Amino acid sequence: MDEVFLWRGTDEQRKLRPLRRKSGQFSYFDQQLGCPDWTGKSVLDFGGNQGDLLAGSDGRIRAEDYCCVDVLEEAVAEGRRRFPQARWVYFDRFNCSFNPQGIANCPLPALGGPFDLILAYSVFTHTTREDMHDLVEQLRALLSRDGRLAFTFIDPHHRSWPGDDDGNNLKWRLQRVFDADPLSDYKPLLERSRGAQWCALVGGRDLFVNDNGSWRDDAGSAMSYHVFHTAQFLQQEFPDSVIQPPVNGEMQHCCIIRPAT
Ligand SMILES: C[S@@+](CC[C@H](N)C(=O)[O-])C[C@H]1O[C@@H](n2cnc3c(N)ncnc32)[C@H](O)[C@@H]1O
Repeated sequence: MDEVFLWRGTDEQRKLRPLRRKSGQFSYFDQQLGCPDWTGKSVLDFGGNQGDLLAGSDGRIRAEDYCCVDVLEEAVAEGRRRFPQARWVYFDRFNCSFNPQGIANCPLPALGGPFDLILAYSVFTHTTREDMHDLVEQLRALLSRDGRLAFTFIDPHHRSWPGDDDGNNLKWRLQRVFDADPLSDYKPLLERSRGAQWCALVGGRDLFVNDNGSWRDDAGSAMSYHVFHTAQFLQQEFPDSVIQPPVNGEMQHCCIIRPAT
């Protein structure tokens, strides 16, 4: 189930939250960043939800050195309960899926810093292209001189598990939605995605190629919003970044950015 339904879905879906906690974010970034010495490093977990990155670090990130920012007020409150020594910041910025009541283009609140590491796992996989650029630039400005910003993205055409599944990342996502409805067929969407540099999947079924897509702002129920970028496109979008393939058996690539000089 998509993360958004665990927070904004039906009572039944929200009850599943404790069973669906993800782990592996720390190990993922540890590998992507070349196993740095984390001791005393200040870490900003952007879109960190309830702090599963911190929980998974097994003490390698100290709660005192950790700050989490997220647009889900309930997740931030839950994280604060779990790790009261860490810093938890609710960011009331519009996100069509996670915070549809939020303020469009709301600037980041004062977070202190600078930060040695700013990490965003599966956050810009749920934002528009413009939001990604605006937020990445704001985050980059918060880096210490030797700091690094690392965020994940999903390449629609990349085959993450060639042995297990002959499909690409977009097919994997579409199958999860469409398998629940045997009468529908996702293959036309897959066909349309051929050659896409990036694409957005709105509500699990509407595919927009090289476009953020559109949605109804007045939709009462939670809506999923998945954005995919090819590695080549992301490299063009952030020319001074380093793009790395997935690690840890995951499907997400990583984009690593240094402070502006
Ligand atoms: C798929 S979840 C990943 C959560 C967390 N990074 C993890 O790995 O467990 C995406 C998270 O990004 C947050 N998010 C989306 N847009 C955001 C924004 N503009 N600023 C901060 N957080 C955002 C969501 O609220 C959600 O918690």
